[in-house]
Amino acid sequence: MSEAGESTRTLVIVKPDGVERGLVGEILGRFERRGLKLVAAELRSIGPDLAARHYEEHRDKPFYQDLVGFITRSPALVAVLEGPPATWKVVRDMMGATDPRSASPGTIRGDLGLEMTENLVHGSDSAESASREIALFFPGLGAS
Ligand code: RTP
Ligand code: MG
Repeated sequence: MSEAGESTRTLVIVKPDGVERGLVGEILGRFERRGLKLVAAELRSIGPDLAARHYEEHRDKPFYQDLVGFITRSPALVAVLEGPPATWKVVRDMMGATDPRSASPGTIRGDLGLEMTENLVHGSDSAESASREIALFFPGLGAS
């Protein structure tokens, strides 16, 4: 790293809608152009068990079944990005608000999406989530 501070990692998923629409390069390219480094990436079908573990915080929400149905419906591009301290926050800011209709222009969701359920991209929402999610999708790969 050229700046002070330890490098950190975060998990990013280009969700099935992003893969289906051919937006993997567009989305990962934004992160790469920003200066984040791709340290792992895999196109994979996320099965119901992995989806349940990934989204366990939402288990009791009314949208949970739709969420699991969506993330498992076709392959997703699962990746780990590395950058400065709090890289998870850099990624979240670039993603934009959860609902693409209210996401700011210039963000991934604000530029490319219109539907809450089809919001293109997932990013870990804290350093702790990043560690947990990286271990879940890429066991053996360190979180930072
Ligand atoms: P993500 O986990 O996918 O990165 O998205 P997020 O942090 O911005 O949003 P989160 O609150 O974690 O919600 C996970 C996904 O569930 C769907 N959702 N639907 N109908 C609803 O009220 C509702 N709320 C959330 C979204 O697709 C969101 O990405
Ligand atoms: Mg979330």
